[in-house]
Amino acid sequence: MPNEGLKDLYVDELKDLYSAENQLVKALPKMAKAAASEELRQGFEDHLEQTRQHVQRLEKIFKALDESPKGKKCVGMEGLVKEGSEVMEEDFEDAVKDAALIGAAQRVEHYEIAAYGTASEFARILGESEHVLLLEQTLEEEKETDEKLTELAKEINSQANEEFEAKEPGKARKAAKRVA
Ligand SMILES: [Fe+2]
Repeated sequence: MPNEGLKDLYVDELKDLYSAENQLVKALPKMAKAAASEELRQGFEDHLEQTRQHVQRLEKIFKALDESPKGKKCVGMEGLVKEGSEVMEEDFEDAVKDAALIGAAQRVEHYEIAAYGTASEFARILGESEHVLLLEQTLEEEKETDEKLTELAKEINSQANEEFEAKEPGKARKAAKRVA
């Protein structure tokens, strides 16, 4: 069957998001477990709860459209999750591992922000105002999560640098000076 237009593309994007969110529901508990910082662990757990709601919001939309949410695998998220698990396997010091986990999580958030932005614009053009509300609610939560991660990164990155300084005296600061 040929693709009929924007509506089909919209449903396709939603299926992609549904797959992405479900992959995250599986990945976030592992990221929480790998986090050394209590705050970061809590942040991943909070976002897991939100992610479950994101899945439910998408299910609501599919129900209203009378479409199945299944049938697509988000390979973009698959790649991001894979990169995240590579980080977990590395033999990093605690704060360095956390800094890497934050980097992986922010890539995920930016991917979702882009996807929800696109989907909510499609919904708007298609006149699906109820969907717009649901998609924008999720979009806001993804943005908030990204901002929280940026805040956490400030503290954790400097801890990571201190760990390095303790192990290799002089090197971290010299490197920092070079950058400055
Ligand atoms: Fe999400």
